[in-house]
Amino acid sequence: MKVDYNYKIYTPEQYAVSMAKIAIEKYLNSFPKEEIDNIKVADISCGSGNLLLAILEELLKISKEIYGEYRYKKSWITGFDIDETALELFEKRAKSLFIEYKIEGELNIKRCDSLCEAMEEKYDIVLGNPPYLGEKNHKEIFQNIKETNFGKKYYQPKMDYFYFFIEKGIDILKENGILVYLTTNYWLKADGAENLRGKLKKEGEFFRIENYTYSIFKNAKGQHNVIFSWIKSGDEKIIEIIEDENRYSIYQDNIFTKEHNKIVLIPPVWKESIDSIRDRGNFNLGDLVNVNQGIVSGADKVFVFKEYDEKFKDYLKPFYKNRDIGKYSVTEVPPFWIMYLNGKMELSSTTFDYLDEFKQLLSKRREVVHERINWWELQWARDEEIFIKPKIVVRQRCKTNNFAYTEREFYGSADIYYLTGKTPDINLFYLLGYLNSEAFFYWFNYIGKKKGKNLEFYSTPLKESPIYYPKDESELLYIEGLVKKQLENYQEEIQKEIDSYFNNKLGINIKRLTQK
Ligand SMILES: C[S@@+](CC[C@H](N)C(=O)[O-])C[C@H]1O[C@@H](n2cnc3c(N)ncnc32)[C@H](O)[C@@H]1O
Repeated sequence: MKVDYNYKIYTPEQYAVSMAKIAIEKYLNSFPKEEIDNIKVADISCGSGNLLLAILEELLKISKEIYGEYRYKKSWITGFDIDETALELFEKRAKSLFIEYKIEGELNIKRCDSLCEAMEEKYDIVLGNPPYLGEKNHKEIFQNIKETNFGKKYYQPKMDYFYFFIEKGIDILKENGILVYLTTNYWLKADGAENLRGKLKKEGEFFRIENYTYSIFKNAKGQHNVIFSWIKSGDEKIIEIIEDENRYSIYQDNIFTKEHNKIVLIPPVWKESIDSIRDRGNFNLGDLVNVNQGIVSGADKVFVFKEYDEKFKDYLKPFYKNRDIGKYSVTEVPPFWIMYLNGKMELSSTTFDYLDEFKQLLSKRREVVHERINWWELQWARDEEIFIKPKIVVRQRCKTNNFAYTEREFYGSADIYYLTGKTPDINLFYLLGYLNSEAFFYWFNYIGKKKGKNLEFYSTPLKESPIYYPKDESELLYIEGLVKKQLENYQEEIQKEIDSYFNNKLGINIKRLTQK
């Protein structure tokens, strides 16, 4: 079948066909082929029908196997969409398909807002690639749905609009019905998806998860997708996982974390070690350090200077970019200077005159509009202590765990995170050794936060990371000594010593894990 991809957001054909095949194959595990006569498939955001046409073709092929000719039943597929034009295109495409297969037929489609539509019918299969929208920029859409009983039941702050389509999809499935959805994958761990994950956990089981570290949409780079297949009240024990080139199976019970029902995909060979890190960790990082994000000026072109300017000397502070952070150490010479202004400061007349030129622009910033700061302050100056005290710094997003230590003034933007000891006796060198270790990388890679191939060192996953922090001072000093050597001059050999200390303490058998 030739597919017309006028709409960039629609499911690419290869994925639509694969999703249709997964659903049908699962259905045929429980029913004889002849049962396809009674099958009912729905897509509640069907667009121009990519998913439904793909499954329709599969059904037609099966009908030929059974009857020796292509047969079609109108009850097979039902599509709902809010967009009239998309549905018209769906009809046209279905017509060409009917001609191609020499069958008579018409479609079961309805133009409506699927989330507000009362749907009595129950389906064997629900396929979907729902619309992705955040509440922040689509308040009105969310408001409409929040006023309905359905919306009241499922709304959760920080959720995405597409969660509703999964929840509705589940509600309209028959017992043992199959759901195959294509979405972005951040809901697997996102805070706002806790209710959604709870529902998926309570009402059924996953049987296949394809998790991508890239976007499968040519026109939506930067997102990362997942195709998940789930059965309502099934008796599935094993989930097939496909992650890029890795394929493995895991137990259903092993994918949800105890806290927040987050979905974590850990290859079986890693499971024991990850559990061991959790068990042997005697603190969470958040017990030992404060984790803070860097500055948001709200107008970098006003506050950030390429050159040091003597006339603003009382306010200019060394300002670094996240690229200035390496493993253990940071760039020495600041590439920029920031005019650091918080509410506690008095402005010199020269500084006031300089800023006054930008008063209009600066006054439009959100925090000024809400009268939370003076018009001349940085929007989020943070507690200045975090830039001055001895600290560990890390890029917000990084392919690997590169944490650095500095005692210098190190001001930076919101894409830098700052870790400072909760009490003065916390050994930051020891913590740095752990944060840069192999063990911590593996923990964060599987359980922490990840977007595509990047680790995301945000506050919550950092604070929730377990750490083994010894009572025995000599252990702290042992790692401190090694870390100090790394700070002076990084050496692979020393890193191996640090890695092996933490692997031992946390019960990780790297040799076994890396054996092919
Ligand atoms: C990402 S497209 C996917 C279309 C199709 N399922 C596919 O895979 O190609 C999402 C579709 O959701 C539809 N949509 C958005 N809000 C909707 C709503 N409240 N009710 C029904 N459809 C909606 C859009 O019109 C669009 O066609």
